[in-house]
Amino acid sequence: ILKILAALVAGYLLGSLNTAVIVGKMYGKDIRSLGSKGAGLTNALRVLGKPAAALVLVGDILKGVIACLIGLYLGVYGYSGEAKDCISLLAAGAGAVIGHNWPVYFGFKGGRGILTGVTVVFMIDWVLALVCFGLFLIIVAFTRYVSLGSVCATLFFVAISFLPVFGSTVYFYIFAFLLAFVMIFKHKENIQRLLAGTENKLTF
Ligand code: G3P
Repeated sequence: ILKILAALVAGYLLGSLNTAVIVGKMYGKDIRSLGSKGAGLTNALRVLGKPAAALVLVGDILKGVIACLIGLYLGVYGYSGEAKDCISLLAAGAGAVIGHNWPVYFGFKGGRGILTGVTVVFMIDWVLALVCFGLFLIIVAFTRYVSLGSVCATLFFVAISFLPVFGSTVYFYIFAFLLAFVMIFKHKENIQRLLAGTENKLTF
């Protein structure tokens, strides 16, 4: 149990390194008071531009990968030796997304966790992550609403996790629900704007 806690804390501390906030500061801006106020890739692209967004992309992927590697290294497994049964991996991954959304270093005001979340899921089951990412891309391509793509792909992620083909474990279900909850919860203002027809569309 100590190792699982260590994984969760390590993931959280890494996830708290919110790249959009850090890159925003490099540009002399507080991303959390501009655009959608979200501290993530989409808003970085919106208010800081493409080079900054590229940094955010790399940074957020990197921290997700490192968190998962720490979780794997700690190696606490349930019943089998599979990634979806690696409790320390799931804990570190969930910790990274929670840290991204509520970063300890930045007054607990962070992003929505989608990029970090998809990175973590990719590390656990890359096929599952790619399928969800595919749906996300289709929705964004057709509607230009990144938030709509994020919310739909997250719900889809939970739903298809139950398909036998993905061989999910009870620990993975808990992880999937927790991840979906923290990511969708952070989209509540986006959802209100989508319903009101005032959500920002993606433009370049
Ligand atoms: O992943 C974040 C995205 O779903 C929405 O971002 O900045 O438009 O609120 P934003």
